[in-house]
Amino acid sequence: MRQAGRSIPARRATLDNHPVRTFALELHESEAAADPVTQLEAWFADALSAGVPLPEAAALATATPDGAPSVRIVLVKRREAGGFVFHSNYESRKARELAANPRGALVFYWEALGRQVRVEGPVARTSAQETAAYVRSRPHGSQLSALASPQSRRVASREELERRVARIAAAHEGRELPVPETWGGYRLVPQTVEFWQRRPDRLHDRLCYRRAEGGRWSIERLAP
Ligand SMILES: Cc1cc2nc3c(=O)[nH]c(=O)nc-3n(C[C@H](O)[C@H](O)[C@H](O)COP(=O)(O)O)c2cc1C
Repeated sequence: MRQAGRSIPARRATLDNHPVRTFALELHESEAAADPVTQLEAWFADALSAGVPLPEAAALATATPDGAPSVRIVLVKRREAGGFVFHSNYESRKARELAANPRGALVFYWEALGRQVRVEGPVARTSAQETAAYVRSRPHGSQLSALASPQSRRVASREELERRVARIAAAHEGRELPVPETWGGYRLVPQTVEFWQRRPDRLHDRLCYRRAEGGRWSIERLAP
C-alpha cells in the first residue's frame, strides 16, 4: 500500500523537553499600554526573547458575504498604528472573500508565554509602491514562487508548478524579476484588539481595546 507520507519519529513535548521555556505571566490594566499596537509590540518582543518560532504567524479569518468563514495562517510582517500588514495572492480564496466582504480577523498564539492576541477590523490592499518595496526585499526563490503559483487554484501536479517556476526563471535570467500583478499586501486596520494571558486555574486575564471617537482607545476587562 502507498505510504501517506514520510513518517517523523514521535517526540511528545513535555515540560522537560519543551523547546522553549514556559513562563508565568499576568496582564494588568495598570501596566497595559494606552494603545494596542504598543502593547502588541511589547508582547511580540517578549515572544522573540522567549524563542517562540515565527511569532509573526497568525490565523487570518475571512468570510463570504453570506457568512461562511474560512481561516488560514499568514505572516503579519508589519504591526503599526495604521494597521497590520500581510501579503498574499490577490486571486486566492481569501482575496476573493476579502473583495466581497472586506473584513478580517487575526489571531496570534504564543504557547510558551500563554498568550493570545485577537485583532478585528476592515481590510484593504496596500499601495502598489508598498507591495513593490516588500517584493524586492524577498529572496529570489520566494519571488519566483509568487510569480508562478496561482494560489488556491487547482494545479495538475507538483511537476506542473515546478515547470512554471523554471519557465519564469529562464525568461528572466540575469534580470530583476517583475513584481507579480496578482500578489501584494493587505492592511487590516484594527477596530478591536484583545490580549489574553493564561493564568492558573483557567482564571485568565483578558483586556480588550476598542477604537473610540478621535482615534482614542478604550480598554475593558472581559471574563475568561
Ligand atoms: C507558517 C505559515 C505561513 C504562511 N504565510 C502565508 C502568507 O504570509 N501569505 C499567504 O498568502 N499564505 C501564507 N501561508 C499559506 C496559507 O496558510 C494558505 O495556505 C494560502 O494563503 C492559501 O489560502 P486561501 O486558499 O484561503 O487563500 C502560510 C502558511 C503557513 C503554515
